[in-house]
Amino acid sequence: MCGIIGYIGPKNSLSVVIDGLKRLEYRGYDSAGVAFIEEGSIKTVRSAGKISRLEGLLGEKKSREFSGAVIGHTRWATHGGPSEKNAHPHKSGRIVLVHNGIIENYQSLKKKLKADGFEFTSETDTEVICHLISLHSRNLPFEEAVRAAVGELKGAYALAIMHESEPGKIIGVKKDSPLVLGVGEGEFFISSDASAFIAHTNRALFLEDGEMAVVTPEGFKIIHTGNGEPAAKNPCILPFGQGMAEKGGHKHFMLKEIHEQPRAVADTIRGRLGRGAEDVNLEEFGLPVEELKGIQKVIIIACGTSWHAGLAGKYMIEQMARIPVEVDIASEFRYRDPILKGNELFIAITQSGETADTLAALKLARKSGVKTLAITNVIGSAAAREADSVFFTRGGPEIGVASTKTFMTQMVGLYLLAMAAARAKGNMPPEQFKGMAQDLLELPAKIETILSRKPEMEKIAQRHFKKEHFLFLGRGIDYPVALEGALKLKEISYIHAEGYPAGEMKHGPIALIDEDMPALFLLPSQSALKDKILSNMEEVRSRNAQILLITDGEDKELEAVSNGIFIVPASNRFLGAALMAVPLQLLAYYIGILRGCDVDQPRNLAKSVTVE
Ligand code: G6P
Repeated sequence: MCGIIGYIGPKNSLSVVIDGLKRLEYRGYDSAGVAFIEEGSIKTVRSAGKISRLEGLLGEKKSREFSGAVIGHTRWATHGGPSEKNAHPHKSGRIVLVHNGIIENYQSLKKKLKADGFEFTSETDTEVICHLISLHSRNLPFEEAVRAAVGELKGAYALAIMHESEPGKIIGVKKDSPLVLGVGEGEFFISSDASAFIAHTNRALFLEDGEMAVVTPEGFKIIHTGNGEPAAKNPCILPFGQGMAEKGGHKHFMLKEIHEQPRAVADTIRGRLGRGAEDVNLEEFGLPVEELKGIQKVIIIACGTSWHAGLAGKYMIEQMARIPVEVDIASEFRYRDPILKGNELFIAITQSGETADTLAALKLARKSGVKTLAITNVIGSAAAREADSVFFTRGGPEIGVASTKTFMTQMVGLYLLAMAAARAKGNMPPEQFKGMAQDLLELPAKIETILSRKPEMEKIAQRHFKKEHFLFLGRGIDYPVALEGALKLKEISYIHAEGYPAGEMKHGPIALIDEDMPALFLLPSQSALKDKILSNMEEVRSRNAQILLITDGEDKELEAVSNGIFIVPASNRFLGAALMAVPLQLLAYYIGILRGCDVDQPRNLAKSVTVE
């Protein structure tokens, strides 16, 4: 995600900030910029592309002694493509700021600010924030203006803000996006992530939602944005160094990204479905309701983990919207001379937006004239440029080669699309929609609950990490999740793992079952096929194999047949399946670690496969 770094102190602030930006590079970015106040006026230097380009633009200024306050930013596009004009910092009058997060009500604020005479020069949601603070600054001092402005924002933000008339001051404020204050000897840092400053100090103060840090060379104060009252807070000592700081205190990017899922899901929902909403915001899919109504068939293509999300999407779209869905692997689809017709919707799912086979399939579909939609995590990617319309998952950059949080956000995107299509087709009454929407809004907290119980999964991993074969079984929408669980395990630990529909076990896989091959079942307690899966479990047990179970409620009958059980919070059958993916990710992670594997960069695999 975007990275923020601000510095106040005696060192050459421009070099400290550029150095901090480089330390945030690992998060992924597409443009960068800095702002400082020189001879009484705000200067911004911004550039699309690498930080080295920004350094080039700063020229000798960077090496010159400059000790005023500086803020800097690396951007990962969410609103508006990667370009100089969309890069941060953004400026309005005497206000300049950098932002991490997504403002949900930026359209309505933009309208209001335009009516007030503000001109917009970027496509970002961020620009409304600096205009808003600028507007309030007409009547209020800096701090008050920030408080008033953030009071009008809906969504997520971490901000570092400067005012031309107060060149020594940086204000940091946050809601739902991280912001941490680094406290050194006579110097202060404000950053989205401690890795940007840990080379200078390990004393840090993490801001909570609704808190604001006002930082000057003399010190800092923390106040509540709501009432302006001071908040009593002291810095803590960070128990880790640079490497772990980049990973948010986790040992590996994979674990960090598994932990980012509640945030990634909340961001993917943001602005697309609100509390009390009566429909999904279709603008986000670029599909007018009339067009959605007319769709007779959906074709989904993807590779790897994205294909598994696509398979799950089939269950969601068919069962909610009653539109038939065909799912194919991109490399198969492109060479099978597929039949495409005018009233079909073709969906390419791709985290990176650059996978060669997926792009080729997408191009083929476009050529045939069907409506195409890309579900991707990367704005400006080849898939985003190629498709007629795009839905952006907002997982943020994923560094671990094995997809985790982006799988989860793809599931959320498909769920939203299925709900939207169901509404358009008249297949989901308002009451049902409300319930389904509520389930989605509760998803981040439910993932959080699973993560808080990760030691349970670690124990299961400790008991089984020496096995060389695993079978993952599920039915209905749990089957693609079983496939994803098996893929995660084989990618991360090099254990041979297969995913199967549980009903198919008797047609082959059962021949492999013995005491050395654990079978992991995914079984929601309300499943209509529970008895059938219980029989499968008995079949496995009678062959002396270990049975592991992921379910969603206490069940004595199931406990009796299982050798290891993990209970996820209950949800509807679609999101219940998404929740079951989390313990499977943890299982793969812990087994990989116990086997001494490089979980972030497994052998022979690439994050993005841009060749055939
Ligand atoms: C590679 C990655 C997988 C990913 C697949 C598809 O194989 O290792 O994790 O699922 O590509 O990538 P995409 O970016 O198109 O989703």
